[in-house]
Amino acid sequence: MSSGFVDLRSDTVTQPTAEMRRAMADAEVGDDQYGEDPTVNALEEAYAARVGKPAALFVPSGVMANQIALRVLCRPGALVIAGRRQHVVIYEHGAAARNAGIQFFELDDDDGTLDPEAITWARAAVEHHYPTPELLCLEHTHMPAGGIPWTLPALEAVAWAAHGLPIHMDGARLFNAEVATGTSVSAFTAPVTTVMSCLSKGLCAPVGSILAGPSDVMAEARLERHRLGGAMRQAGVIAAAGLLALRTMVDRLADDHARAQRLAHAVAERWPAAGCDPARLPTNMVIFRHLDPDALLAQLRSEGVLAGTIAPGVVRLVTHHDVDDPALERALTAISTAH
Ligand SMILES: Cc1ncc(COP(=O)(O)O)c(C=O)c1O
Repeated sequence: MSSGFVDLRSDTVTQPTAEMRRAMADAEVGDDQYGEDPTVNALEEAYAARVGKPAALFVPSGVMANQIALRVLCRPGALVIAGRRQHVVIYEHGAAARNAGIQFFELDDDDGTLDPEAITWARAAVEHHYPTPELLCLEHTHMPAGGIPWTLPALEAVAWAAHGLPIHMDGARLFNAEVATGTSVSAFTAPVTTVMSCLSKGLCAPVGSILAGPSDVMAEARLERHRLGGAMRQAGVIAAAGLLALRTMVDRLADDHARAQRLAHAVAERWPAAGCDPARLPTNMVIFRHLDPDALLAQLRSEGVLAGTIAPGVVRLVTHHDVDDPALERALTAISTAH
């Protein structure tokens, strides 16, 4: 890293690759608001094909993709069933209430999945004066649980319990799930209505996320993007990096996962009671409890390693393209001597 730190705070810190920067400079562009940017159109088609949906929409961020999904799939006042630690529930500064006017019905998501019976219960509660659920949201991989992917049977059980309710998948790190499990993204997305993925995290694009779903839903999503101020013009400049992200950066996520395993083992060895079980962390996240995260982060920083927190007493380390083997060794050494 140019700053000299080993930056494990997030995979959002990844730098665009040299190939991406060249592609951005050379990108053929047009006015995307008129549907005339060939590079954006190519990216949307590539992602839609990859996730097995008819249409896709390029947006500036993952938060905007989630917010658009809420606005097109349910009405203000609706109940949205979701896991209590999902990004759309707690890490978007109340955007769902402010932008979409919905209220969440929060389910436990300790292991990253949702209990189908709890979904059945939420639907049945309508007969007992509860509001009507209009949407189910799930996160795949589930970040606060430690980047845990869903299994296909768990996903299908939840979709069955949803009983025709639309489902939005926050697949910010869906490609990590594909690489970790060997299950294709299109198999994972078959049971859901809309899916969004971030190109700007482990896939290294500098900007951008993408939402896919049925054509009529995506036509409405295009209007919502405009309403939210997210319509872009010669966005092919950034879509060019997104195309390379999809084409060239997915398979290498396996390297991030292997390095995260080594970090997880080091954490489990250093703090055996911290709740870090490497066998349950198959992607690029290492999440663990610590009594004094501020002191730990300061100590790691003094060793040249940046870490982050995601909740009180919960530390996160994330591997990514810009953490190579020498950087990993530095982090392992810092962890082995940390308090
Ligand atoms: C699971 C998940 N969903 C959505 C987002 C939002 O993405 P963005 O930062 O591009 O708005 C993030 C960002 O970290 C995330 O981790």
